[in-house]
This record gives sequence, structure tokens and C-alpha cells, in this order.
Amino acid sequence: MVNVIFCGFGEDMDKRVIAKEGDLLLRVAQNNGVIIPTECKDGMCGSCAVKVEELDGELVDTGFKSEVDPDGWDKDKYTTYMEDKELDTLVEMGAISKKEAESAQQYAQQTPIRLACQCIIKGSLLVKPFE
Ligand code: FES
Repeated sequence: MVNVIFCGFGEDMDKRVIAKEGDLLLRVAQNNGVIIPTECKDGMCGSCAVKVEELDGELVDTGFKSEVDPDGWDKDKYTTYMEDKELDTLVEMGAISKKEAESAQQYAQQTPIRLACQCIIKGSLLVKPFE
């Protein structure tokens, strides 16, 4: 189980929830009353783009702050493969550069902007709206 913190979505939607590794970020948001705009739900339109930050180590229980213990961070555990379709959409909408997309592909890392409908949760995340 991992922590997913939604921050900046609105008073009633800013919360920390527990998710399973392998859950889809969009589903976790919807199941917990956090509204992320969607259209295609297939990684093509970009309307569900969000900022994501991987949270290192164990979360300290301080509400919505992402205070973390840097010890215990296992980088390999949290690497995330992103599909070409998602990377192409993010580049097309100008959310990430082509270089960031290539780096994400090469090192199996996630970019700081993700499409919630394509984002499989691999570790604790801080999620903010993409504007
Ligand atoms: S809803 Fe269209 S890319 Fe996610």
C-alpha cells in the first residue's frame, strides 16, 4: 500500500488516500472524490494531465505536507514505465520536452507531468493539478 496525496484540487478534494501499487491514478482519484477532468480516458487528449512527485521513503503523518524520510528510498522499486502514447501526448501538448520524453523512455522513469488515465501507481505520490 502506498500514499497518494492530492493537493491543490480544492478544499474538499485535498486529501491523502491509501492506494495499492498497480492502481490507476485516475481511478484512485475518482474513488476518493477528487475530480480530475477527463475526455478520452485513453491517453490521447491530455485533459487529465497532473503534476506528480514521487515521495521518497516513509511519509510522516503531518496532514498534507509531504515530509519524508529520505532513508529507505529504493529507487528501483519506484521506477515507472511510461507508454509511448502518453509521452507523445505530453510532448504534443507542450507539458514536457521531447528530451524529457526520451529520458523517461531510456531510464524507465516518469516525467513530472503524467496523464492520470495512464498513470499506474508504483509508489507514494504527491499529485497536483496541471495548469
Ligand atoms: S482523459 Fe484523455 S488523456 Fe486522459
